[in-house]
Amino acid sequence: MILLTGSTGSVGLSLAKLLSQRGIEYRAMVRDVAKASALDLAGAEWVQGDFQDTESLRQSLDGVDRVFLLAPPVENIDRIEATFLDIAAACGVRYVVNLSAVGAGLGVPHRFGQWHGQTEKYLRESEFDFTILRPNFFMQNLLTMTSMIQQGTLYVPAGEGKAPFVDVRDIAAVAATCLTETGHEGKIYDVTGPVSIGYSDIAATLTHVLGRTINYVDIPAEAAKASMLEMGMPAWLVDALNELNAGLKENRFGLVTNVVSEVGHKIPIDLDSFVRDHVASFA
Ligand SMILES: NC(=O)c1ccc[n+]([C@@H]2O[C@H](COP(=O)([O-])OP(=O)(O)OC[C@H]3O[C@@H](n4cnc5c(N)ncnc54)[C@H](OP(=O)(O)O)[C@@H]3O)[C@@H](O)[C@H]2O)c1
Repeated sequence: MILLTGSTGSVGLSLAKLLSQRGIEYRAMVRDVAKASALDLAGAEWVQGDFQDTESLRQSLDGVDRVFLLAPPVENIDRIEATFLDIAAACGVRYVVNLSAVGAGLGVPHRFGQWHGQTEKYLRESEFDFTILRPNFFMQNLLTMTSMIQQGTLYVPAGEGKAPFVDVRDIAAVAATCLTETGHEGKIYDVTGPVSIGYSDIAATLTHVLGRTINYVDIPAEAAKASMLEMGMPAWLVDALNELNAGLKENRFGLVTNVVSEVGHKIPIDLDSFVRDHVASFA
């Protein structure tokens, strides 16, 4: 049995839909079974589970041999994942597909990368067979910027840095392959979009597809921090996002790979198609 975590979220829901479309049965661990069952996905068995509740993890993992492990974007992802993996090992799970992040590693200068790096280390030192997916920035992050886009200007402290933003549907395709085919054990896949783009390119594509001018203004990190704090975001998250944008500005995440086509067996979605698929959200 395959267990999915995070399956009401951005990547996880795309993965659940893909497995359902392919007629693959799976169990999905969710915090609210009633809400998730309303998604009405064929082949899904919903189980109540919370990363903070070890007994619920034991019940969710009972009879499972393969896991898609995605932790929410919270502080100290590595601790949540280590607790989950300790229980998974005790329950006899054999294979783990872990959603890590671009640039993950122990000594890197961004905390999300450090946390994901810790989980990668755990997996390398464990008895599990595993595959690590390191996706680049999600195109879907732009859906959290709709109010800036509606007002016509993207304010981001990312300079003219470029990275191959990836659509979560493509990450899901790679994860689905790993969970259902053999030969991916021990691999680390950098999952990227088809081409490196910066916020100037993003603004130009939004302008072209939406038919109205969207500007990009590179702002100082301190100004971005003040604005995010004013919006009520927690300080640790504000700093973590600024660390990632600093990495983008320095072109530290620019490598383009063919993982989506080679492993996900599909043509990677480009930004133009992503924006066209979400026009209603940006209108
Ligand atoms: N955004 C990026 O550009 C980017 C790039 C690379 C890697 N990543 C990594 O991607 C991951 C986030 O993926 P995402 O955007 O798909 O996440 P998301 O949309 O925020 O979804 C998070 C999922 O986790 C579930 N969840 C939250 N708290 C939980 C708990 N205590 N117990 C069990 N489930 C819980 C949520 O369920 P509910 O419905 O119950 O809330 C939801 O299904 C992070 O690890 C992040 O570091 C992100």
